[in-house]
Amino acid sequence: MNAMTQTQYQNAVKQLQKHSYHYYVLDDPITTDEEYDILYHKVVAYEHEHPTQIIPDSPTQRVGDVPQDKFDKAQHLSRMWSLEDLFNRDELETWVNRITKSYGTVRFYCEPKFDGASLNLIYDNGALVQAITRGDGALGEDVTQNAKTIQSIPLTIEYQGRIEIRGEVVIFKEDFEKINEERLKNGESQFANPRNAAAGSLRQLDTRITASRRLVFMPYGIGSNTLELKNLSERMEWVYALGFRNPHMTHLCETSEQIETFYHEMRVERDNFAMLLDGMVIKVDSVAVQDELGYTVKNPRWAAAYKFPAIEKLTVLREVIMQVGRSGVVTPVAIVEPVDIEGVTVERSTLHNFDEIERKDIRLGDKVIILRSGDVIPKIVKVIAAERNGSERVIKRPRDCPVCGSELLDEGALIKCQNLDCEARIVNSIIYFASKACLNIDGLGDKIVEALHKAGRVKELSDLFDLTMEQLLSLEGFKEKKSRNLLDAITAAKGCDCWRFINALGIEHIGEVASKSLCGAFGTAFDTASREEILALEGFGSEMVESVLEFVRVNGEKIERLRSILTPVAPLKIEAAENPFKGKSVVITGTMSVPRDRIKAMLEELGAKIVSSVSKKTDFVVYGEDAGSKYDKAVELGVALLTESEFKNLSSLADGAPSAQGESVKAKNTLFD
Ligand code: IVH
Repeated sequence: MNAMTQTQYQNAVKQLQKHSYHYYVLDDPITTDEEYDILYHKVVAYEHEHPTQIIPDSPTQRVGDVPQDKFDKAQHLSRMWSLEDLFNRDELETWVNRITKSYGTVRFYCEPKFDGASLNLIYDNGALVQAITRGDGALGEDVTQNAKTIQSIPLTIEYQGRIEIRGEVVIFKEDFEKINEERLKNGESQFANPRNAAAGSLRQLDTRITASRRLVFMPYGIGSNTLELKNLSERMEWVYALGFRNPHMTHLCETSEQIETFYHEMRVERDNFAMLLDGMVIKVDSVAVQDELGYTVKNPRWAAAYKFPAIEKLTVLREVIMQVGRSGVVTPVAIVEPVDIEGVTVERSTLHNFDEIERKDIRLGDKVIILRSGDVIPKIVKVIAAERNGSERVIKRPRDCPVCGSELLDEGALIKCQNLDCEARIVNSIIYFASKACLNIDGLGDKIVEALHKAGRVKELSDLFDLTMEQLLSLEGFKEKKSRNLLDAITAAKGCDCWRFINALGIEHIGEVASKSLCGAFGTAFDTASREEILALEGFGSEMVESVLEFVRVNGEKIERLRSILTPVAPLKIEAAENPFKGKSVVITGTMSVPRDRIKAMLEELGAKIVSSVSKKTDFVVYGEDAGSKYDKAVELGVALLTESEFKNLSSLADGAPSAQGESVKAKNTLFD
């Protein structure tokens, strides 16, 4: 890489800060992840060479790599208060009247109440000096290192005075679901709700964990300060202009009617917010009036939280039913006394697995708290063990399959039915076989597959291809047109891409990407590949390899039959033309704008050999977002580094390119900086 000058480095840092601001604060990116990443890596490389010149608020400085052993206690400069709760229109009116009685018409600043963990940021001389959790309001915990990993918290601001900026640290609903999925996979306990996930993530001793949780800071107020702006609304505008996120849905109201109307608008919008809201906060706008109203022991008299209907409700667990998936995994599902949560009747909730039931000690008949919010799948958050009367029953791990009765394999978190002929497994396999990412057979959804199976027409996958018009017409709800369409869609699946055929088999641990790799490497005859050959594929660990081999061993005949019916088509393998990558050893690292396997397939088509670790023998490292140690190793060894787009540009030289030798020697020295 060409060395940057110090000025170029300083400009690159400014550029990265600008990009982050647009991405994390304005939600309006002005560059691609790839471009950001290229610049970020250049900055990392410069800082590696010139550690004394590192700018303290460089984006690379957000994440430390040495875990702390505890958090120190820290004092807030001014107290952090809680809010009085209002639950209905009457309470709102009483609260508003108490203020207007003494002050006449006042303006109220209304804004969302974010459901997360509160955090106090102290800035001095333009820099973030301390971040403290709420604690008891006077004394909290110093989580400065963790706060620095939150991209929507500016490390520096354009204000020199000492000031406290307060806000709520939240987790977006979609990130919450992702974190819980990941935790489930790793056998860890689930976070009950996004609030707990945010609070737990903020208090991690290892900042790298906090950084990975994608926390977001939503500012809602100012603590100790020497500002002269007279109204809260102006002060908040000033805060947003410093580089903090703007919640957007804020409004000035003068009467309780106006507040009520805005409250209902916000409730309607509630599900459209990326994070959970649990109410609307109403604050007197004039700082002078706030000061006069003052505080009770706990709360300011000038602010209140007008709560939204709860998304967590108390109910009773009545029953646990078992669902058997296509891979035989048995998933417990809770049936609860129906409860209305924001207009939706909730009566079932996933329990994930039996380890989770045991960890939470959930029993039949228990009073439980269930959570449902727009995009969050209903889940049992908590058991009220204190309210048990002795009639509750422990939920036993099943020993036999609830569908076919055969003995289950209990692997701890996973319990599986191993009977390949289990009806539930067959029906779900057929549904999966026909789904979008597999053979994409239109019209073959859950209900129809169940009906076909029940009528004894489809007992295994290959039976689908023997279906006749008469058979379909004899089923309830099947008329001429529907039957014809279905038969046509089934026929159209013949001659499918080979990867679809592999994916449709439903081999455990083998999804779309892995199916494409298998198809790219071995074509339709993937079942003849050896353990070593499969293990050599990028991204294939031993669990995946064993899964393929075991599947092939048990289902050899079925694969053969389906292959002869479907006649899947493999991409043609052509001898690569001369190009800079032919015969070269290439490492791919980091996240690309397309699945990494696509880059791999392109390289393989060019005749490159893909290897997994960087050594002196490596000719190129193609890197994407979040590239880590492999990138560093390449810098250290002087291996030619290519971004995804540099790779694509170079690969287009494939036709009639100059000699591979000449091109790559040049590449190693100069071409790609
Ligand atoms: S104002 C002086 N505004 O709710 C007023 N708090 O129940 C102090 N919260 O501890 C708080 N969104 O963690 C305020 N827009 C908002 C808020 C908000 C969430 C949290 C905050 C506070 C708790 C009070």
